[in-house]
Amino acid sequence: MIVHVLTLFPEIFQTFISASILKRAIDKGLVQINLINFRDYSHDKHHTVDDSPYGGGAGMVLKPEPIFEAVEAIKQGLNTEEAARLPVILLTPQGRTFNQAVAQELSTHSAMVLICGHYEGFDERIREHLVTDEISIGDYVLTGGEIPAMAVIDAVTRLAPGVLGCEESPLDESHAAGLLEYPQYTRPPEFRGWGVPEILLSGNHALIARWRREQSVKRTMERRPDMLGKVNLTPETGKKRNNVQLTRNCAIIKAEAL
Ligand code: ADE
Repeated sequence: MIVHVLTLFPEIFQTFISASILKRAIDKGLVQINLINFRDYSHDKHHTVDDSPYGGGAGMVLKPEPIFEAVEAIKQGLNTEEAARLPVILLTPQGRTFNQAVAQELSTHSAMVLICGHYEGFDERIREHLVTDEISIGDYVLTGGEIPAMAVIDAVTRLAPGVLGCEESPLDESHAAGLLEYPQYTRPPEFRGWGVPEILLSGNHALIARWRREQSVKRTMERRPDMLGKVNLTPETGKKRNNVQLTRNCAIIKAEAL
């Protein structure tokens, strides 16, 4: 998977790409992060990338030319079909909210472009005629798109084929099955007088699996009841129950717990 990042601050990404799972994926050739400073695509002697807004107002607006040209240069290296399929994503608080389902959807692409803005905003023609998607990482405003881009890169590349080993499987973790993750414990079995649930020490894998699922459901009910409306609560039986309503899910939870 190759992620092209358009940014005025490529240095912000250096530590991020040289650590942990992402570094390992890059070293293995599974992921490539192509940092592009779109200032390099401005043509005037001051390398201008922004200008004051038409109609007046505070702040500066990112000009269309450098961003269009940087994306076009990426597409020149692709065939027509690849170029047409390439997600070109603007990081903006106005975008659709990023979540695990969006991460999964993006992880099916072999390439994508992330555009990080700064200042007051983007010339609207970038939205209308260049990007294919707009993503927000939450309802708050950051000074730029770099931190959102790192969140997207982290969540998406770890789902790319081969990036996580089977012992780090993303299938069990929070949000993967539409539920929060169950509580985890490690040695020592007693710490400052606090123990570990007996069942986890029992060696009975069927009971442990059941306990974990119950804990996942309980935790999701307590912390994120909004998530239960969308989840299939009986994956073990292989039955698909889409769009199950919260009340129905709660009945199933109670029945399962008996
Ligand atoms: N740029 C500034 N704030 C942002 C946010 N919340 N999500 C994505 N991009 C942003």
